[in-house]
Amino acid sequence: MASTPLRLLLIAGSARQGALSVKLRDAARHVAETAGALTDVLDLRALALPLYDGDLEAREGVPAGASLLRDAIAAHDAIMIVTPEYNGFPTPLVINAFDWLSRLKDGLAVTASKPVALLSTSPGALGGLRAMNYLRQYLQMAFQMLVLPAQQAVGRAHEAFAADGALADAKAASTLEGVVKAVLKEAALRR
Ligand SMILES: Cc1cc2nc3c(=O)[nH]c(=O)nc-3n(C[C@H](O)[C@H](O)[C@H](O)COP(=O)(O)O)c2cc1C
Repeated sequence: MASTPLRLLLIAGSARQGALSVKLRDAARHVAETAGALTDVLDLRALALPLYDGDLEAREGVPAGASLLRDAIAAHDAIMIVTPEYNGFPTPLVINAFDWLSRLKDGLAVTASKPVALLSTSPGALGGLRAMNYLRQYLQMAFQMLVLPAQQAVGRAHEAFAADGALADAKAASTLEGVVKAVLKEAALRR
């Protein structure tokens, strides 16, 4: 790891309290901090971005929340996104925020070549794997992000966490550690 701590921004794609994706985000955050990274979480709901609307954009410009997302990405060496799965797809909260980001003049400048690791959660057996793979394609193709090969889908997530917030299963916890360390390593190489 580099001598100055790496900065990792963690984003969960849920719009509800008690979200499984927030639990996984926080477990990943703990792993990253243990590995020596400085971490921040970004609450996508707090950006208060309306559903993308071209008429609103023409009338009022891109909402301020998109600039907050841009600045948060720019201020970090690496990103982790935890997406839930809605009908096999990433949540509208994630897609809508990045769609607005893409409408900023300099929005794509901050995402290009930025290392990002993906995680997904679901109470189902596949753990949101389908959604995560769409998100991979979306971020690579449209945003030119460097999406790490390492990823993790946590299935049966409603029973996956121990009382301390860590993943209860030792193999799953070790996979999470591997994903976190992989994105930090990639970020360190790019400094
Ligand atoms: C509109 C909608 C669609 C869903 N589709 C899926 C799905 O395709 N696959 C799946 O595993 N779970 C699906 N679920 C269940 C979610 O995985 C579950 O609600 C989960 O807790 C949401 O993530 P969160 O806890 O981070 O909010 C769906 C839930 C909603 C509300």
